Amino acid sequence: MATQKLVAPPARAAMFLTLTVNDGSEEAVRDLLTGMSGFTRSVAFREPDEHLLCVVGIGSQLWDRLFPNLPKPRGLHPFEEIKGDKHTAVSTPGDLLIHLRSGRLDMCFELARLLGKKFEGHAEIIDEVHGFKFFDERDLLGFVDGTENPEGDRAEDAVTIGEEDAAYAGGSYVIVQKYLHDMAGWDALSVEEQEDAIGRSKLDDVEMDDDAKPANAHIKLNVIHDAEGKQLQIMRDNMPFGSVGEREFGTYFIGYAKDPSVTEHMLRNMFIGDPPGTYDRILDFSTPKTGALFFVPSVDFLDDPTPRG
Ligand code: HEM
Repeated sequence: MATQKLVAPPARAAMFLTLTVNDGSEEAVRDLLTGMSGFTRSVAFREPDEHLLCVVGIGSQLWDRLFPNLPKPRGLHPFEEIKGDKHTAVSTPGDLLIHLRSGRLDMCFELARLLGKKFEGHAEIIDEVHGFKFFDERDLLGFVDGTENPEGDRAEDAVTIGEEDAAYAGGSYVIVQKYLHDMAGWDALSVEEQEDAIGRSKLDDVEMDDDAKPANAHIKLNVIHDAEGKQLQIMRDNMPFGSVGEREFGTYFIGYAKDPSVTEHMLRNMFIGDPPGTYDRILDFSTPKTGALFFVPSVDFLDDPTPRG
């Protein structure tokens, strides 16, 4: 079963496109999806060292329109808003997510341009973010982001659907949120206060001792376990983005998981708190403007959409 390539070393550049599909364009879009691997090869092959990757996700409502006669992937549903006392994880529209990564932005841009032409008349691009890697793999809050991501087999295991939903084995789920930061507020904190918010040191990226980590630290709320005590993991590929003129400084959060309830559990911890009330301190300086969930089919399904297993 060929999977879309999700696990890869951090890329230098990324683009995130969210699309809604026009009524009546279902057949055209089904066809276009079967061509995605070919479109990607057309651009990637010209600069193989730049490792251009394209991942496509399908939203719940579009799934029902494209494949009304197929069983629904088990974890696929519209992203549900999470309302905490102070902060809300909003749910916003999205039929398709296209996640492009490469060593160079021009590679992402060229594929996006090609896809834009192909989808023209059939879908609208309602959100487009160009992400870049910042010094030392840091986010715009100044912290190294991605350190504790699973790697290799552990990452594959975290993101790849297996026998639990055999018809869609080799697929995955992805949740995205576009966050904007209040940089003035964040910069007004001392470095120690910022470190308390994340749960790691800023300069050298070392995790705080457990007894020193505040209950509302980002990593305290995002380290979660199953009933047997095994840590539940997702694979993140966050990217900074922004516009100096618009005073826009953001983090595009993207988390892949074989079971989206793991990411949703993390989000509940962040927005509601665990215990309730201890919401994630980074939310006082980070506001999600979007929120959506997509099923990421295997390449085999994309090329020939019939379920297996
Ligand atoms: C860890 C930043 C949103 C899940 C981290 C770390 C940073 C960070 C700096 C520590 C280094 C690392 O291990 O990567 C951010 C920023 C966000 C954001 C700036 C958005 C504004 C999210 C969201 C989730 C999440 C929405 C989950 C739904 C995690 C997880 C870890 C982590 C699982 C690793 C915890 C561990 O194993 O130590 N994040 N994050 N993050 N974040 Fe986030």
